[in-house]
Amino acid sequence: MSLDSTTKAEFPVPAGVFAETVTEVKHYTDRLFKFRITRPASFRFRSGEFVMIGLPNAEKPVFRAYSIASPNWDEEIEFYSIKVPGGPLTEHLQKIREGDTILMRKKPTGTLVNDALLPGKRLWMFSTGTGIAPFASLIRDPETYEKFDEVILTHTCREQGELDYGKELVAALRSDPLVGEMAQNLRHYCTLTREDYPFTGRITDLMASGKVFDDLGLSPISPETDRGMICGSMAMLQDTKAALEGFGLEEGANNKPATFVVERAFVD
Ligand code: A2P
Repeated sequence: MSLDSTTKAEFPVPAGVFAETVTEVKHYTDRLFKFRITRPASFRFRSGEFVMIGLPNAEKPVFRAYSIASPNWDEEIEFYSIKVPGGPLTEHLQKIREGDTILMRKKPTGTLVNDALLPGKRLWMFSTGTGIAPFASLIRDPETYEKFDEVILTHTCREQGELDYGKELVAALRSDPLVGEMAQNLRHYCTLTREDYPFTGRITDLMASGKVFDDLGLSPISPETDRGMICGSMAMLQDTKAALEGFGLEEGANNKPATFVVERAFVD
């Protein structure tokens, strides 16, 4: 079997790994796609966590960390992925089709979870590109709305088509029977950096200028009321973390909840 084949598991499934079936694939742009797989009955995770996934196309498959984009009550598992030209996993992953097999390690983990934050009034989720994935999970989890009065999801991308996954998700959420009513407290703030759009610019610059707060009609971030979660590229994480620290927020972890948490969008 060639490395290009992404169909059935012809190699033995490694220990500690589930072999699951692709149920849906949707391509958004030439760089972005989502896919859904069956959920093993014994697989438990907290909304916002990530898991290692791979393809059954080699004796020692390449695994990469992927945020789970579906909430923990969902019957399937959803992922949102970039296509990296020549990327050891995504080069093959982008060709998957319904019925193909995906390998998923059994242990999820991560810091972008409600447990790692102290109680607060407003929750800010800052994302760029595929960094929206863990928030796609969290905004569909009722616990998020039980813990915070207001939830603000910011999503910054280069071009318009890259916002579609998030927009589709939020639109569906508004009429969802389980979380739709609670999700009325969700604000979705989209900005673009390389095309004209109603809101433009990096979220870090929009926080520094105060424009994001003006646009949303909200007071600036304060450690008394606000909590933050950050997911994007390494540079975005660093700059957004510095911005939140500038507002007086402190980074937390599972064993030491505080006022913001950080995670990277894991891509190869
Ligand atoms: P820009 O177009 O100015 O680089 P990428 O696809 O490279 O991960 O970028 C996704 C989005 O994140 C882009 O809109 C990009 O803006 C923005 N971005 C990149 N680096 C940073 C950063 N250090 N801080 C905030 N936003 C960033």
